[in-house]
Amino acid sequence: MHLGEKIIRTGSAASLATEVIQLTKVSMGYLSGQEVLRDISLSITRGGFYFLAGASGAGKSSLLNVMALSVRPTRGNVQLFGTETTTLSRHQLPALRRRVGTVFQDYRLIDHLSIEENVGLPLKIAGEPKREIAEKVSELLAWVGLGAYHKARPEILSGGQKQRAAIARAVINNPDILLADEPSGNLDSALRYKFMYLFEELNKIGTTIVFATHDETLISMFNYPVLRLKDGRLVKE
Ligand SMILES: Nc1ncnc2c1ncn2[C@@H]1O[C@H](COP(=O)(O)OP(=O)(O)OP(=O)(O)O)[C@@H](O)[C@H]1O
Ligand SMILES: [Mg+2]
Repeated sequence: MHLGEKIIRTGSAASLATEVIQLTKVSMGYLSGQEVLRDISLSITRGGFYFLAGASGAGKSSLLNVMALSVRPTRGNVQLFGTETTTLSRHQLPALRRRVGTVFQDYRLIDHLSIEENVGLPLKIAGEPKREIAEKVSELLAWVGLGAYHKARPEILSGGQKQRAAIARAVINNPDILLADEPSGNLDSALRYKFMYLFEELNKIGTTIVFATHDETLISMFNYPVLRLKDGRLVKE
């Protein structure tokens, strides 16, 4: 089944810029300490598929958080769809964020919502009718193997099941960009390839993908460009 075709509708009116994400001399440190991202400049081209590689602690999640506009850089510029974001007010960020699907490393499912509510949330926020949301949620939950967990709370799911729910939530809204942080870290190898196939299908229909992983075997199996971090710096491949 071509899930990509199933969940795509008209697609949003993507801007004409070929760079959907552009970072210029970005540095970032958390409140508590030193910089964990240093002087990073990069461009993500619309329709591309990129791996984000690097050892544990290299800064992959931090960089994705900056791209997802969850964390502001301490220095430098972050453009999303051609819009400079560092000078936008907090109220202006959600409209951009809505076009970005994120699978966080720690899933970030909402505890007091059921799995179907979690997965359907991006559509609810977008104001889609209830019945359409229910249909899409059912289809996606079946596809990720969580058909029996509609009403379950996240706390009763295993790590891999939560990860699958987080992936379903990230793609249900047909985002222009998908930022996936170790999205297959808790999946067995059969599921890992199934999801890789899903990400490739989404990419083929136009979703730009940044896929963070420290799985060098997975990276070497595909011919996608690799952004590699070492101690918070981008290093040449
Ligand atoms: N919320 C935080 N507050 C303070 N420091 C943080 C926070 N999150 C990450 N760090 C620090 O930032 C650095 C980069 O961490 P990050 O999580 O981005 O690495 P990573 O490449 O994603 O690692 P992993 O492969 O283990 O997920 C580390 O030194 C980490 O201790
Ligand atoms: Mg990480």
